Amino acid sequence: MTDDAVILNIQDIEDTARRSLPPGVLDYFAGGAEDEISLRANRDALESLFLCPRYLVDVSHRNLRTTMLGRPVSFPVLIAPTGFQALAHPEGELAMARAAQAADIPMVLSTFSTHSLEAVRQAATGPRWFQLYVHRDRALTADLVTRAAVAGYEALVLTVDVPVLGRRERDARNGFSLPPDLRLGNFTLPDIATSAGTPGESGLAAFHEGLREPSLSWKDLSWLQSLSPLPILLKGVLRADDARDAVDAGVQGIIVSNHGGRQLDGAVPGIRVLPEIVDAVGDRAEVYVDGGIRRGTDILKALALGARGVLLGRPMVWGLAMDGEVGAGRVLAILRDEFDTAMALCGACTVADITRDLVRYR
Ligand SMILES: Cc1cc2nc3c(=O)[nH]c(=O)nc-3n(C[C@H](O)[C@H](O)[C@H](O)COP(=O)(O)O)c2cc1C
Repeated sequence: MTDDAVILNIQDIEDTARRSLPPGVLDYFAGGAEDEISLRANRDALESLFLCPRYLVDVSHRNLRTTMLGRPVSFPVLIAPTGFQALAHPEGELAMARAAQAADIPMVLSTFSTHSLEAVRQAATGPRWFQLYVHRDRALTADLVTRAAVAGYEALVLTVDVPVLGRRERDARNGFSLPPDLRLGNFTLPDIATSAGTPGESGLAAFHEGLREPSLSWKDLSWLQSLSPLPILLKGVLRADDARDAVDAGVQGIIVSNHGGRQLDGAVPGIRVLPEIVDAVGDRAEVYVDGGIRRGTDILKALALGARGVLLGRPMVWGLAMDGEVGAGRVLAILRDEFDTAMALCGACTVADITRDLVRYR
């Protein structure tokens, strides 16, 4: 790290990362779909929740630990799957996995990782889940699932909100394409992804076009369940009826998400529909949420509304870009400290004390 700026919070880390990244890469990480309504709404939704703290509670001993799919973790946070992490730092997902292990929280590895799922397993032994995009080539998809199970990944995260890629106009405007020396870790990158971009066309969109499987539907879930014994979470659910159907079909978890505002623009922020989804699912599955989490108080708000944990997308990418494993670790340490403070200030000694009555809507 060459920057001497004082780093107090996630915004400071983002500001530092922004100064070091090429403009096209920065836009790929930061951007959303079309008018970026959902991207902004994720922050607005969290900021429109207020807290009603409970005082005169002895909070001298606090315990931030919880469990996820039965496994103990140090605090209720996971690293969200984000593709192409070598664009942020050469060590990419390897550094990210080490930071997750050091913080004792799970990392969700993207299908589009720039190091193989086996190499990530070698780099760190902490808890890992594998995010799956079902591709047109079903044999490739089945192979990924088998490899993830063999390599000790503990869950599959099936992303359901990308039947087609959202229209990311920043990438199109920049003619964004992946650098020719960038490698995908889990399978071979089609040439089209790295072919020089032209203004008005995103190389990434062309890449997705070649791989995507827009026919994915509920009947494919049982096929996926037959491939491995791993628990499955659906990521990108925004409706209580979909969540209920998913649990009826035997999934173990729901990740309520609008993909960081990168897919359907205008899609509701996950935090807004979290309570109805939690109510629909009850204790039949674990419910997680992501989108715009930037403060410890955001984690507390999500837990108050019933989330088991939250996923961090861009903050982790900014940390990685700032200083590799150290920077990613810094993000987690800051949010852990902020969450600890938020719990103390709300009269919560354990995550079980974070109840819905702590939150009011503006
Ligand atoms: C640069 C970038 C790449 C992403 N790649 C993936 C991916 O490969 N698979 C996936 O399921 N979600 C992906 N996402 C979505 C994240 O997992 C997550 O839902 C989102 O970033 C959360 O919002 P936040 O960035 O505000 O924390 C990506 C998001 C970003 C910003």
